[in-house]
Amino acid sequence: MIVQLLERVAALAALTGYAREARQGDGRLVLVAGEAGIGKSALVEQLHEDLPDARWLWGACDGLFTPRPLGPLFDLAGQLGGELEELCRAGAAREELFRALLGQVREAGTLSVLVVEDVHWADEATVDLLRFLGRRVWAVPVLLIATYRGEDTAAGAPLRVALGEIARQRSTRRVDLGPLSAEAVRVLAGGTGLDAAELYRLTAREPVLCHRGGGGGAGCGAGIGARRGAGAGGAAGHRVAGGAGCGGADRRPGGAGAAGVGDRVPAGRGG
Ligand SMILES: Nc1ncnc2c1ncn2[C@@H]1O[C@H](COP(=O)(O)OP(=O)(O)OP(=O)(O)O)[C@@H](O)[C@H]1O
Ligand SMILES: [Mg+2]
Repeated sequence: MIVQLLERVAALAALTGYAREARQGDGRLVLVAGEAGIGKSALVEQLHEDLPDARWLWGACDGLFTPRPLGPLFDLAGQLGGELEELCRAGAAREELFRALLGQVREAGTLSVLVVEDVHWADEATVDLLRFLGRRVWAVPVLLIATYRGEDTAAGAPLRVALGEIARQRSTRRVDLGPLSAEAVRVLAGGTGLDAAELYRLTAREPVLCHRGGGGGAGCGAGIGARRGAGAGGAAGHRVAGGAGCGGADRRPGGAGAAGVGDRVPAGRGG
């Protein structure tokens, strides 16, 4: 369900601008980074609403101990069909798969938006795919959006290093999502009977926690405290905090926007 986003006007405007450039053949890889629950997926879903005429293809990395190699590519292939899907079925070499994907989204005049969610869980081959595409999208009408939790990519870890390299490629852009303002937390607390200042303190202004607090009453507030106290950040933390009845959402366009929206990225900045 799409609800209105608070305070993501600048981030959405940036993504819309990158989509426009990509449509003109100046493809973009956009790294959308931010903590768990900060609103990365919600932002991409909103862009999806705003660009219904683009061809949208969705892939996701899974938080498994043994992530399937190239899982997101197989997701994309299932939606794209054609040569890529056939090559996937035939167990073709990685390079062939990458080239087939690029070939099929090259069609002039059609904007393809490729989403790869939760890259902090990516297997190594998927990171190679991002590298491969990142070096080649500049000549293709493709907007490739990769979301990831910066806090889940350890400094010096191969993924962090790879993301730093990808970030330095000329077609890469970055959208960093920061926490909501006190005003936005007040809006989310509105009508719930919860004290906005307490919600602000408990949630550190993460939208997901504000919703859970706002939608679920005091019990949820306690859950939020437990999650944050546990040092959370992972999916498990979310499930613990988000008990039954802790849903509900209200997104409105706001003013502040992303904490960081920008063209180029300093080396090694992975989150
Ligand atoms: N700017 C916002 N205003 C209001 N609600 C928001 C905003 N951003 C996110 N939300 C809500 O917060 C919740 C979490 O958002 P979302 O799932 O997009 O987070 P995420 O960053 O993708 O988290 P994860 O890293 O776990 O995938 C959702 O219910 C979403 O609707
Ligand atoms: Mg998400």
